[in-house]
Amino acid sequence: MSFSIRAEGLRKRFGDTQALDGVDLAARQGSVLGVLGPNGAGKTTAVRILATLIKADEGTALVNGHDVAREPGRVRESIGLTGQYASVDELLTGEQNLVMIGQLLDLGGRQARARAKELLEWFDLAEAASRPAKTYSGGMRRRLDLAAGLVGRPSVIFLDEPTTGLDPSKREDMWGVVRSLVHDGSTVLLTTQYLDEADALADEITVIDHGRVIAHDTPDGLKHVVGGQTLTIRPLDPSRLDDVAAIVGELAGARPEIHNRAVSAPVPGDEVLGEAVARIAAAGIAVTELSLHLPSLDEVFFTLTGRTAALQEAA
Ligand SMILES: Nc1ncnc2c1ncn2[C@@H]1O[C@H](COP(=O)(O)OP(=O)(O)O)[C@@H](O)[C@H]1O
Ligand SMILES: [Mg+2]
Repeated sequence: MSFSIRAEGLRKRFGDTQALDGVDLAARQGSVLGVLGPNGAGKTTAVRILATLIKADEGTALVNGHDVAREPGRVRESIGLTGQYASVDELLTGEQNLVMIGQLLDLGGRQARARAKELLEWFDLAEAASRPAKTYSGGMRRRLDLAAGLVGRPSVIFLDEPTTGLDPSKREDMWGVVRSLVHDGSTVLLTTQYLDEADALADEITVIDHGRVIAHDTPDGLKHVVGGQTLTIRPLDPSRLDDVAAIVGELAGARPEIHNRAVSAPVPGDEVLGEAVARIAAAGIAVTELSLHLPSLDEVFFTLTGRTAALQEAA
């Protein structure tokens, strides 16, 4: 088993803040590791250590087999730290910037242009390709920074909250980019505050809070710990609530809850959705909502930290 990222016992303190308090991270080659945690959890600090931008106080980290503290140059060669590593020239167009970076990386002129074109399309910048970067909006600029870090097809890529603040359609585009990067053979460490994003993209998820790892699992394993997904159905006519509750109860194999004129119950997987639609239609019930949602990060935290606290009390 080959790991592209392997960190053990990372600690980092800033003044009074223990940003990382003994964090282990591991990403298999060609996989996506999701690092999930709320604001201030220590995600960016971990990424900056792995990307050789700052040094850990304690712990070790290997990226592509190179020690970040002892061989930072070798690490930098293999990573695509987006935004901060590759720098964009404001006066050049988006396309010129990417072509120039390609040439600096010794791609031939033709290859550099082809890579620039591909990245401009991935990041929805094709139309703005021939405008100077200084005319770009904040979002466009951020996408150009991301693209700049990917010109050299780095084998390990750090994406630090790439979708925070994006609208849903741009978020989907970014998910497509991440999938393309993995398809091309890269290993991606993606930090996020969103469980659904980690679920959609990551092979494994490490959940961190206050500088510590509080869970590490596959997306399915993590959802299972937290109680899977919730099916919610809201009938148009509240007098049908009991009929809906009977159907949901049967599908979930558990007693549903009724809240705000809607019936909800935890369900094991997506496959119940089709069955729910069919039964509701067969019963002639009109609905205003029929949804399946993942637990939110808040619910994940409540479950995980509640359990951690219980274990500490027991110890
Ligand atoms: N350069 C710094 N100086 C002082 N405190 C910092 C610095 N960088 C991060 N921190 C603190 O360390 C903690 C973790 O921050 P960070 O790694 O940015 O978390 P995240 O990326 O998960 O939001 C936070 O409390 C943050 O305020
Ligand atoms: Mg951050």
